[in-house]
Amino acid sequence: MKPYIYPSTIETARALILHLVEMLENEPDRIFHIALSGGSTPALMFDLWANEYKEITPWERMYFYWVDERCVPPKNSDSNYGLMRLLMLNVAPIPYENVFRIMGENEPEQEAIRYSRLVEEHVPQVNNWPCFDIVLLGAGTDGHTSSIFPGQEYLLTSQKTYERSYNPHNGQKRIALTGQPIMNAERVIFLITGKSKADVVYEICSSGDTCPAAYIAHHAENVELFMDDPAAGRLGR
Ligand code: 6PG
Repeated sequence: MKPYIYPSTIETARALILHLVEMLENEPDRIFHIALSGGSTPALMFDLWANEYKEITPWERMYFYWVDERCVPPKNSDSNYGLMRLLMLNVAPIPYENVFRIMGENEPEQEAIRYSRLVEEHVPQVNNWPCFDIVLLGAGTDGHTSSIFPGQEYLLTSQKTYERSYNPHNGQKRIALTGQPIMNAERVIFLITGKSKADVVYEICSSGDTCPAAYIAHHAENVELFMDDPAAGRLGR
């Protein structure tokens, strides 16, 4: 697990964008399968990426999927796809056919099955699991990641690629990429910023498998943590 720490949120976002662009530049002849998380943290990165790094990004070689989705339609302000569409798809020249959204408006159980099949068809398989090139994760203050919340640890070892889940804080239904395909990714990158995340960062970096985010960070093969100083505030450096 490799930490990258920057003074501010915007410097962290810029560093991650350049890190991702460099990965794409290093392998100029292939498609990258990228799974995005939602929530509020990636918004700044999406905005900067589409507006300030548009020209240097080979959008046509990037297939976008989602790590998780709230079971709401795209126009709902909670929609993870809706956020990325607003900040990136409406701004950067991303081919429509490269974007594979979770349909939050569908019945959750059926959508988890539909999207699992879609990902299993489009994303190359390794170890009999889809192998995303990059899975971009956030972490909640309660230690959840994807939409795998504390108490839902069974999703970390599920045999299904996506499962229905829910947010225990408000009952909101979710669709979640489960633990095995997350950990099977070439790279798992956490983007965690803000003072409110200092405790969960400390837990990820200093505890055992005490929450889903820590479990993933400890068991995935190639994990990078992009953080700003406030989020890394409890790490002795
Ligand atoms: C979601 C996300 C989730 C997110 C964390 C952090 O749908 O909510 O995918 O896993 O990464 O909850 O959310 P914030 O960035 O809003 O703190």
